[in-house]
Amino acid sequence: MSTVAVILAAGLGTRMKSRLPKVLHPILGDASLLWVLRTLPRDLGAALVVVHHGKEQVLAALEGWKAQGLLPCPVIAVDQGEPLGTGHALQVCIPELDRLGASRVVILCGDVPLTPPATVARLCAAEALLLAMDLEEPGSYGRVIQQADGRLAGLVEAKDATPEQRAVHRVNGGAYALPWNALRKALQNLTNDNAQKEFYLTDAVAAVARDQAVAVEVCAPEDLAGMNSRLDQSALQTAARQRINAAWMTEGVTFLHADSTLVGPRVSLGRDVVLEPSIRLEGTVTVGDGCCVGQGTVITDSVLAEDVEIRPYCVVDRAKVGPGSKLGPFARLREGTDLDGGVHIGNFVETKKARMHKGAKANHLAYLGDTEIGAGTNIGAGVITCNYDGVNKHRTLIGRNVFVGSDTQLVAPVTIGDGALIGAGSTITKDVPADALALSRVPQTLREGGATTLRSRQKKSTGLS
Ligand code: UD1
Ligand code: MG
Repeated sequence: MSTVAVILAAGLGTRMKSRLPKVLHPILGDASLLWVLRTLPRDLGAALVVVHHGKEQVLAALEGWKAQGLLPCPVIAVDQGEPLGTGHALQVCIPELDRLGASRVVILCGDVPLTPPATVARLCAAEALLLAMDLEEPGSYGRVIQQADGRLAGLVEAKDATPEQRAVHRVNGGAYALPWNALRKALQNLTNDNAQKEFYLTDAVAAVARDQAVAVEVCAPEDLAGMNSRLDQSALQTAARQRINAAWMTEGVTFLHADSTLVGPRVSLGRDVVLEPSIRLEGTVTVGDGCCVGQGTVITDSVLAEDVEIRPYCVVDRAKVGPGSKLGPFARLREGTDLDGGVHIGNFVETKKARMHKGAKANHLAYLGDTEIGAGTNIGAGVITCNYDGVNKHRTLIGRNVFVGSDTQLVAPVTIGDGALIGAGSTITKDVPADALALSRVPQTLREGGATTLRSRQKKSTGLS
């Protein structure tokens, strides 16, 4: 017994009017296809993803997710060639499903992102099941025709339906579990003799239902809503946001303005976290207990330990922030930033590949790239690590309890020893030993009354007022 999933993702998505394949359009930062793949149980033999339009982009996305460990089971892409319909998509999978020894197939659409994992698990455990939903306005969805006892009797696409069939409100969600033998046989007899001249998977499902019982489970409409247009995408994002935010509220998170706070599906929030308005948390993000995230902040693929205070308008990307650290307002932490506890990063400070030890501070206007900064060190306003010589990047190593005066340029590679003191306005090009005082300044000149003399000369020479 082996269940294999097939995810349909080859369609063009004409109504999205986009260069990006439909299944890569995001909902709260994650592509629709990734949402679908993530719902699959870990014990599944494999998942086939049927691709064609935008194939290179979809394959690159699949590779990236695999590398990040985001895929629950092995994923194999199958190129459909010119897509001739959902039934044709399954037909091109026949050799691969045979090779994998599939006994049962679970079929999902790559453009239906919000089916709960528990529902997909039920589908994967079922012998023969179709997921349906009841819609006030069934629109272009296929209509579900049932026997008196509820079993599936037939499926009719809206474009092929009689007026009586079109009046049916129970529609096909496009998610099925079927025995492979029976489906395989039905696929071989498909024709495209219909309004859209397509090979319909629905015809094959209906054919299986003629030979054996196929159950129908009715789900909540948002569980099976498809993304066919930007309007659908927006509606799905709203549904996902409301679901995710409500779940975190029950876990002890305060949202000051839940409608403008976008928390992705791979975000984990601790207790007593406070999220101010207009925040976006995307990718794999962990926010520890007691953190406060300030208004307008964007955090991607990062880890915040407990009690971190992020003041408004910070951007944090692929960074680690230790307990009790304070960031911002207006700080930018870039990839590879790694802060210990109690670090302060103030306004207009940018960090990249910066390892800062306990209690280090850079409170104003600095660029700290490719650097390690020891515990208790203070970086003054306007300090820059000059890490790039136009060809290569170099590191700046700063010891413990160092004082780097304001407006200092540290020309890398350079090392500053523990306890050193660098005078404001210095350009440091040579290593500074521990406890040394380094200064590089042009000596100051002073002329008594010089300002008055200069001003009178300036007035005479310009003649302008
Ligand atoms: C399909 C169903 C319809 C159901 C609806 C649910 C058929 C004939 N109709 O209609 O009964 O109510 O889904 O959302 O199956 N795709 C391919 N290859 C193709 C065509 C489509 O991979 O040749 C993929 C698309 O990328 C998409 C999915 O299959 O992810 C569904 O295709 P779509 O064109 O959106 O079908 P619907 O018209 O929505
Ligand atoms: Mg669709």
